[in-house]
Amino acid sequence: MNDRTANRPARAATDVAGFVAALPKAELHLHIEGTFEPDLMFAIAERNGVRLPYASVEEVRAAYSFSSLQDFLDIYYAGASVLIEEQDFHDLAWAYLTRAHADAVRHVEIFFDPQTHTARGVPFATVVGGIGRALDDAEARFGLTSRLIMCFLRHLDEAAAFDTLDAAMDHRDRIAGVGLDSSERGHPPSKFREVFRRARSAGLRAVAHAGEEGPPEYIREALDLLEVVRIDHGNAALEDDDLVADLVRRRVPLTVCPLSNVRLRVVDDMAAHPLKRMLDRGLFVTVNSDDPAYFGGYVNDNYVAAAEALGLDRSHLVQLARNSFDASWLDGPAKAARLAELDAAAAASNPK
Ligand code: ADE
Ligand code: ZN
Repeated sequence: MNDRTANRPARAATDVAGFVAALPKAELHLHIEGTFEPDLMFAIAERNGVRLPYASVEEVRAAYSFSSLQDFLDIYYAGASVLIEEQDFHDLAWAYLTRAHADAVRHVEIFFDPQTHTARGVPFATVVGGIGRALDDAEARFGLTSRLIMCFLRHLDEAAAFDTLDAAMDHRDRIAGVGLDSSERGHPPSKFREVFRRARSAGLRAVAHAGEEGPPEYIREALDLLEVVRIDHGNAALEDDDLVADLVRRRVPLTVCPLSNVRLRVVDDMAAHPLKRMLDRGLFVTVNSDDPAYFGGYVNDNYVAAAEALGLDRSHLVQLARNSFDASWLDGPAKAARLAELDAAAAASNPK
């Protein structure tokens, strides 16, 4: 074995990671509460005098072994309960934004769950104020642009979602859209038809988690009843050929989250992940991290893990980054500028 062959596997791995690291990209499926790293969680808990049910950062990490979405959500809501002051929300968002900047994320569309905080007596304004200040800082410091999407918790009722939408109207300039998250099974999109109608009539765009643990019918309902412009996850679409054909024809983006799907047992392992099949069938897919502090990786880790397990090549990776800007809510000129930046980065990594 000569030096070249001996080095090949290691070099191939670094090549993928290096290529992904240099690709400008957008992240479109990211829960800010899911970026709460245990060390920051402990620091904020201490300054707020809140006790966590864990003795150490290591104990928190050890608890991150999930058997289902609900199993994860129980821990995720417990972690978010230490967030109280505007500065806490700022620090949480700022930590994510600096990390995203290091991953060449140029634009991010961030979910937050207002009800997780307002139910504990934290004012809506505190949450939006802290996150919003971090978003402004990131645009000023890094040129990292953003949109904010407020999610309704689907395990709560539609009346609670209406109250949340009312509270959001005082912050209309900060909020670009509404989403639907939390426990999917048993909580179909149809439950939120009227509140989504009101949100859309107020000029907000709509997205919804659908087909993560739930059936393809939930994806159909999200499209037809909630009139969403993107589907978050959408894995279950592959169980219904007519639905796939519709999603392809209408060019509906799917915000896919590979490491999340592995950690929440939506798929058995990364080799079984449907991302490559989705691309091959012409679906408009993007790669995202969902809740990176809980699922073992940020957005670039998701690209790399999927590429290595599924044999994605450079053209697939560029296509995924291209889709991320195309599916974003950037305006036309900003989108064109980001895509040109992506083309230049891809060309620089592939010298002729
Ligand atoms: N909230 C945070 N992460 C979520 C996920 N993966 N599915 C549904 N709700 C969530
Ligand atoms: Zn999600």
